[in-house]
Amino acid sequence: MILNQLEELSAKASDELGKVDNLQELEAWRIRYLGRKSSLTDILRSLANLPLEERRAVGASANLIKQKLEACHEEKKRELEAFIFIPGSADGLDVTLPGQPVDLGHLHLTTQILEEVCEILGGMGFQVAEGPDVEWDYYNFEALNMPVNHPARDMFATLWIDYERDSGTKPMLLRTHTSPVQIRVMENTQPPIRIIAPGRVYRYEATDATHEWMFNQVEGLAVDKNITMADLKGTLLEFARCLFGKDRKCRFRCDYFPFVEPGVDVAIDCFACSGAGCRLCGNSGWIEILGAGMVHPEVLRRVNIDPDTYSGFAFGIGVERIPLLRYGIDDIRLFYANDIRFLSQF
Ligand code: DAH
Repeated sequence: MILNQLEELSAKASDELGKVDNLQELEAWRIRYLGRKSSLTDILRSLANLPLEERRAVGASANLIKQKLEACHEEKKRELEAFIFIPGSADGLDVTLPGQPVDLGHLHLTTQILEEVCEILGGMGFQVAEGPDVEWDYYNFEALNMPVNHPARDMFATLWIDYERDSGTKPMLLRTHTSPVQIRVMENTQPPIRIIAPGRVYRYEATDATHEWMFNQVEGLAVDKNITMADLKGTLLEFARCLFGKDRKCRFRCDYFPFVEPGVDVAIDCFACSGAGCRLCGNSGWIEILGAGMVHPEVLRRVNIDPDTYSGFAFGIGVERIPLLRYGIDDIRLFYANDIRFLSQF
């Protein structure tokens, strides 16, 4: 009789377990069929009162059922826990909860400024041109009017490449400025030319707060008929105003660069003190921002552009100098030290 009862119990428990579909219901089921107050536990507890023969049979059967139900319970539990749950339901994972935000990086400060400069000059009609970082002596110096032994080569502390395969006839170096791109472009293009060349340049230099051995420049070049110093001044004044504020004034002073004649250094009135004199401008009221000039006739001749028909202006600007001034950064080495605490501020 008890054996029948056990059979029925087992069948009913299995049946109900089949309908359970969340962990709460499963726990209720466990208490009902395997808990301390369940009929199965009652039966097992009352075994002692049965006659020996019956006790054996009932005991074996009850234990078997208990094991079976426990195993089924375990399996069901694993199944329910693995289930990704529907929002609002009592159990499981709510897939509509907002996720953990992942930190995204951003463009390096230098890249941001490079893009800004290219955008301003691009808006004036300059197209981006590129040249190699590893350059021939010819493009970096010679074609820019600095033949071997020209003293102006000393302006550029040069990192030479040990290149002997060609018995040293064509010296190679890391470009010391972006000016060689001017030559590469003019070799392949007839005027009108209007290009900018952004990129890295290298100097054999001890680093300190104002010197890095690698930094960036943007070169500019315009060649056409009737280009004059007035075009240079107008272009660079507009450029300076876009970068440093619409009220900027520009100062042009004579300077020497072998590839331009005349050559100028261009300064803006100090945007921190409006020219009165402060720490940023070294009390002079002016901040030098770039070198420029009218392309030297000798440079044009070398690339087969007739200097009697065409003229041009060129300029070169140090890229890191822009944020150094704008944000009052006091050490250029911070740019490439890769300290995220510095970089993430921009
Ligand atoms: N290449 C020069 C330098 O690195 C900068 C420069 C000056 C570029 C005058 C020019 C220029 O195109 O006309 O110091």
